[in-house]
Amino acid sequence: MAPLPVPVEAPAAPPVHDYSAPLRVWHWGNALLVSGQLATILFLMVIVNPRSAVPEFQQAMSKEGLALSEQQGRAFAHIISDRIWDWHIAIGLALAAFWLLRVLLELRGPAEMRFSTRLLLVARKYRLAPPADKGDARHALFAQTTYALFYAFLTVMVFTGLALTWADDVEFLHRIEHPVSEVHSVTMYLIIGFFAVHLGGVVWSEITSDHGLISRMIGGK
Ligand code: HEM
Ligand code: HEM
Repeated sequence: MAPLPVPVEAPAAPPVHDYSAPLRVWHWGNALLVSGQLATILFLMVIVNPRSAVPEFQQAMSKEGLALSEQQGRAFAHIISDRIWDWHIAIGLALAAFWLLRVLLELRGPAEMRFSTRLLLVARKYRLAPPADKGDARHALFAQTTYALFYAFLTVMVFTGLALTWADDVEFLHRIEHPVSEVHSVTMYLIIGFFAVHLGGVVWSEITSDHGLISRMIGGK
């Protein structure tokens, strides 16, 4: 029997450039929710920063001839913080639902939603690319790797976030609350890193080599 021909090139990648409606809806919904989460933290830690306002509460009260203890001031600050945390948890639950939707689309959705397939194809293309095409293939592989990292960060954020949400109600979650909170906080910086690299990357690609990339992520064509 004649030997089978050995493929010299990777099979053509599925169309990654005409983004399907489910992927676009997921992308912008996810971008909005992640931005919302970062905004709640920005308000809590920088813009409103209720804890740092305690001396101002005390000053305002003393103008009215009333004394406000440090503890009472902190109680006020707590009320404001809780309002922002309520938003963080509400947006977080929506983000968790979006994460689940992405997992379902990955497992059951149309072929172009399968990120894992795309990642493997891009990796294979890079391995088999002739030297002249190596640069482009490396660039595509880098972009897909950053998405893989983002999906990993999002998974960590959702699981640790849900654990923190129920830490007061579940004894086991209460016991691990401190390390979980540390992981949740550190992962935020990784997500901010992805955000910056991603924005820089897509804008750079749009300007230099892939005109219409951002419009395709908006309109699909
Ligand atoms: C104005 C802001 C944004 C623009 C213009 C934008 C644009 C794009 C574009 C054009 C792609 C496709 C790139 C490619 O095929 O290589 C993409 C993919 C992606 N973006 Fe964004 N993006 C934005 C914000 C965000 C944010 C805030 C996040 C999450 C933090 C995010 C997460 C992703 C992910 C995970 C993918 C890969 C989707 C997949 O293939 O499964 N994007 N984005
Ligand atoms: C991009 C997504 C997210 C970012 C950037 C983010 C960021 C943060 C940060 C910085 C903290 C403070 C951690 C600490 O010092 O204790 C925090 C706390 C928390 N996060 Fe998230 N988070 C995200 C997603 C989520 C999700 C998906 C949930 C799930 C519902 C969630 C629920 C919580 C809860 C319950 C807390 C503790 C609130 C409290 O101390 O009262 N987060 N988050």
